[in-house]
Amino acid sequence: MAWDFLVARSDLRQTRFQDVEPPSLNEGEVRLAIESFALTANNVTYAAFGEAMRYWDFFPAPEGWGRVPVWGHARVEASAHPEVEVGRRFYGYLPMSTHLTVQARPGRAGLVDTAPHRQGLAAAYNHYLAVDDDPAQDDHRALLQPLFITSFLIEDFLDEHAGFGAASVMLTSASAKTAIGLAHLLKKRGAVKVIGLTSPRSRAFVEGLGFHDQVLAYDELGGAAIARPAVSVDFAGDAGVLKSLHETFGEDLAYSMLVGGAHWEAGGGQSGLPGPRPVFFFAPDRIAKRRQDWGPGGFDQRYGEAWAGFVADAPRWLHAQRSRGPDAIAAAWLAQVEGQTRPDVGVTLAP
Ligand SMILES: NC(=O)c1ccc[n+]([C@@H]2O[C@H](COP(=O)([O-])OP(=O)(O)OC[C@H]3O[C@@H](n4cnc5c(N)ncnc54)[C@H](OP(=O)(O)O)[C@@H]3O)[C@@H](O)[C@H]2O)c1
Repeated sequence: MAWDFLVARSDLRQTRFQDVEPPSLNEGEVRLAIESFALTANNVTYAAFGEAMRYWDFFPAPEGWGRVPVWGHARVEASAHPEVEVGRRFYGYLPMSTHLTVQARPGRAGLVDTAPHRQGLAAAYNHYLAVDDDPAQDDHRALLQPLFITSFLIEDFLDEHAGFGAASVMLTSASAKTAIGLAHLLKKRGAVKVIGLTSPRSRAFVEGLGFHDQVLAYDELGGAAIARPAVSVDFAGDAGVLKSLHETFGEDLAYSMLVGGAHWEAGGGQSGLPGPRPVFFFAPDRIAKRRQDWGPGGFDQRYGEAWAGFVADAPRWLHAQRSRGPDAIAAAWLAQVEGQTRPDVGVTLAP
């Protein structure tokens, strides 16, 4: 049985499953059977910005529908490439489907999908990493790796710019995994105060992480004593929260970075604000730059060290919870769209 999970592009709450016949393989193609994948707010953001950021273009779907990209693990089920054996496992960018056929170009660490429709899309998404380690690692890797790389790149960007001279860094949606990764790295470097902004229901969770100097609910920002100047790193993408940050800090905002849209239905309002113009952070561009700056192996070595420290500590605050089958996938998607997923639970799914 093979199927795709489809989301209506105009209404992310409307979903359906479509049975598909996996195509027979042409020379060089490989069919991956998807084993499991993680679902976080990041995937809802892919869908919410699917058109503008071309996230819908990775995995084609019927008119009006989309296949939301997720990060996970897959096993080679059939291969028409002499260097890619059946049974090999890969980690990478997948659709919420049972199968994905890729046009494989094997390389040092895995393979690249060279299918024509994926060219021109950010290269970082087209790599599949060969994984030979214990599948027990799968859940935390799929849940955190694609997010922590952004945390790492943001911290490195702030460090490269001497923190824009700020005394504090404020993170919105502080309960989000990408924000947690950044708080972990900022705390480790110890150059600035780390301020977490979150919703009241997640406040105790964020405090319990131990990475922040102050944790505030969104409506407490105005009355709080936060060391100035400050940088804001916005994972929420919430027009009201961003406005309140800019109005509270004005010219004391040393830099305003837009990273996410976790509050995906509350977006907009990025222009005409007091203080600096907000600037969007796009991780794939930074990866490409740092790969060049740091030379062969330099990026992987630095990132690998940071990742090892973060993932070793993650089971303390993130409990992976695996569910299986189409009903579980549809329910988990809707819960994530509605923002009902608990921050200490890592949702992973198997088709
Ligand atoms: N630009 C990039 O390159 C890049 C890379 C990675 C991630 N990101 C973005 O960073 C954001 C966080 O992603 P993540 O996967 O780390 O998140 P996550 O761990 O799933 O975060 C969950 C948190 O997001 C908020 N949230 C989620 N859904 C919501 C909803 N429907 N309504 C209101 N709040 C909601 C809540 O935080 P609070 O209650 O604390 O607000 C919730 O605890 C996403 O928008 C993602 O796209 C961007």
